[in-house]
Amino acid sequence: MVSGLASLNFLQLLFLLVSAYGSGVNAREMTELAAHSASHMDQMNHSLKIFFTMNELKAGKFFPTSLPMNDPSTSPPLLPREEADLIPFSSQELPQILDYFSFSHDSTQAKAIEDAVKRCETNPIKGETKLCATSLESMFDFVRSIFGLEMDFQVLSTTHLTKSIATYQNYTILKVPKEIYSPKMVACHTVPYPYAIFYCHSQETETKIFSVPLGAEDGDRVEAVAACHMDTSHWSPDHISFRMLGIKPGSSHVCHLFATDNLVFVPKSTH
Ligand SMILES: *[C@@H]1O[C@H](CO)[C@@H](O)[C@H](O)[C@H]1NC(C)=O
Ligand SMILES: *[C@@H]1O[C@H](CO)[C@@H](O)[C@H](O)[C@H]1NC(C)=O
Repeated sequence: MVSGLASLNFLQLLFLLVSAYGSGVNAREMTELAAHSASHMDQMNHSLKIFFTMNELKAGKFFPTSLPMNDPSTSPPLLPREEADLIPFSSQELPQILDYFSFSHDSTQAKAIEDAVKRCETNPIKGETKLCATSLESMFDFVRSIFGLEMDFQVLSTTHLTKSIATYQNYTILKVPKEIYSPKMVACHTVPYPYAIFYCHSQETETKIFSVPLGAEDGDRVEAVAACHMDTSHWSPDHISFRMLGIKPGSSHVCHLFATDNLVFVPKSTH
């Protein structure tokens, strides 16, 4: 029996939303996100890089950000597909889901479950393919459906090379970030839920992927994965990145880092 929802702090939530919606736009959701973020943003430390441009991806640049380590002991359990497929997962079946987990229908968990399920059911934007995978098997099937059965792929994630308890660090980019071959890519983000759910999506527009070596003064070392979305013309004008970077849809690419619990799939380069 699985229970309990991973609690997320605001930054993790922002990263989750940013990465889940970063490239895509559903106008209503983005408006809600923008409103939600704006209220926090004002109180937030402005010296935090959430969105940036490729000009920032240079050796020696300071990179103040928050990349809390993934704590496997608080991660929800991964279910085998046979088990996951037996658990209802749709907004029509909300009462059955709540009964399955023994959550009362007016609890905060019920609200979180409803949010997660509804977010999984939103329509992809133009040029986007998405799936909420409820098991590793269905995540891999989704990746194969995007890349084709013949293509080998690798999985990347933002990784701490040292043990770190810091949440915020004024990192420095230690070496020139390396661009990773990514003619196609699938990004999967964990969704807070009683068992592991991956919100996976892929866009047709060009996305550049970089491996960014970060170091902090206290010795913390992180190999971060960054995505730069080269075409932002279909994004909602309300997308918070535009305000944060002072740009307009389509006028510039937008980059972000992936949180440590995100998975990024790219084809394996053959040369
Ligand atoms: C913002 O970050 C800087 C850099 O570490 C820190 O010194 C400062 O206390 C932070 N401010 C707030 C309001 O958190
Ligand atoms: C990061 O460290 C550098 C060097 O000490 C400093 O110039 C910069 O202002 C710091 N940035 C933040 C946001 O604290």
